[in-house]
Amino acid sequence: MPNTLKKVPQLQILRNVLKFLTNPIPIVDQYFKDFEADSFRLNVGAMTKSVITKDPELIQYILQKHNRNYKKSILQTEHLAAFIGQGLLTSNGSYWLQQRRLIQPGFHKKSLDAFVRIMSKEILTFNDYLTNKIESGNGELLMLKEMSRLALIMVAKTLFSGSITEEQITSIGNKVDYLQAEVVVKIRQPMFAWWRKMSGRDVKNKKIAQELYDLLNEIIDERKQSGEFKNDILDMLHGARYEGTDEGMTQKQILDECLVLFAAGYETTANALSWTFYLLDQNRDKLALVKKEISENEIDPDNPMASLMKLDYIRQVISESMRMFPPAWIIDRVAIEKDTFNGVNLYNDEIINLYVYGVHHDPAHWDNPEIFEPSRFEKDKMKSIKPYTYFPFGGGPRLCIGNQFAMMEMQLVLYTLLKNFDFKLKEGHVVEMLPGITLRSKNGIKMLASVQ
Ligand code: HEM
Repeated sequence: MPNTLKKVPQLQILRNVLKFLTNPIPIVDQYFKDFEADSFRLNVGAMTKSVITKDPELIQYILQKHNRNYKKSILQTEHLAAFIGQGLLTSNGSYWLQQRRLIQPGFHKKSLDAFVRIMSKEILTFNDYLTNKIESGNGELLMLKEMSRLALIMVAKTLFSGSITEEQITSIGNKVDYLQAEVVVKIRQPMFAWWRKMSGRDVKNKKIAQELYDLLNEIIDERKQSGEFKNDILDMLHGARYEGTDEGMTQKQILDECLVLFAAGYETTANALSWTFYLLDQNRDKLALVKKEISENEIDPDNPMASLMKLDYIRQVISESMRMFPPAWIIDRVAIEKDTFNGVNLYNDEIINLYVYGVHHDPAHWDNPEIFEPSRFEKDKMKSIKPYTYFPFGGGPRLCIGNQFAMMEMQLVLYTLLKNFDFKLKEGHVVEMLPGITLRSKNGIKMLASVQ
């Protein structure tokens, strides 16, 4: 990495502001090419210093080796936290560490096993819903919409089992979607803060966030009063005890963590799934290999997790899909103290954007990066993947807590739906990326589905 990072001229940022606001990926990629470097500076306004990097060594340094000097930016700890509270995803420092230690064991194998059992029941209900929808209509599906519905049900049912109704799930989904979109607007259009205040939009957002809280509070209260134990995430959160004390979390803390799990766990998975359906449609030879694996394997209802672990080709497909379309396409950190890495100075309070999408598409690390090739993730080959050239779930101590949960869920969904349905991209439908908090598809991926 060069000693002095090249910097995007302020005038160019102003000139390209619309591009940055709609889809920053092409323009960021162009700067990497123009600067012929793995990192460059892009200062948004006079006050905010920022670096964008696709250098795996620097990324490893920040996320792992020297993580104590790097915290999350206010994007998550203030803007997102204003709506979904202070939970694992949205906190920093000692509070985060205390929560992580408390919650982490709840995602270990034994709990995962219970969650997969819940999910494998829910996928059957979803299968029926989809059959009905296809048979009673023209078979046209917006995959992102359907996968969002499914991923929301999965996270809702593993959190709250039977204590949550369909209506409540839909309402939570709508509110979380709305608030996340508002966070993106807030971050990308800071200059219109005055308008949001004057027009009453801030008040409306607060009201919706409060409704979301009230809804979850009601569900948590009901469970507490019922005294029932359902072996779901809510029971895990209720039962968790801080180290060395017999104290558990307050109701407010439990509520915040539930909201965070909703927000972190459903849109990411829905995007990864819908991109995977798209990639398999475009790569029919790989789809045939998936179907072969499906025909050779059954899911044992008494031990679904063990069955899912055998679906190795589907695992490779999902990994490759998240290489090409990483749902968390960019991760940010802020330097607490000034720092130097490989001779490059990073200022204190500087934002460092870890450009996951850029690393995953860099020909320096991937042969033919634009080609969908799941075999890159064959077990033997994975040993030679260089650290932090592939990190869809982040890394270091803040590695996604739901990574195995998400992998199991996606394997189960792909196995079940591809076993029972055929999907084909609708002719003429244009698929385009829309990077927000997650990497979405702009038009939702329209497919024609038929029952097998
Ligand atoms: C394909 C699906 C998913 C992807 C790609 C994904 C990606 C990520 C990434 C990149 C981070 C780290 C962010 C950072 O360092 O700034 C993260 C954190 C997190 N994820 Fe996921 N995630 C997925 C699914 C899930 C699921 C299903 C859950 C929960 C059920 C979940 C819960 C969390 C939580 C709580 C954190 C914060 C962890 C911490 O800071 O200690 N995620 N996720």
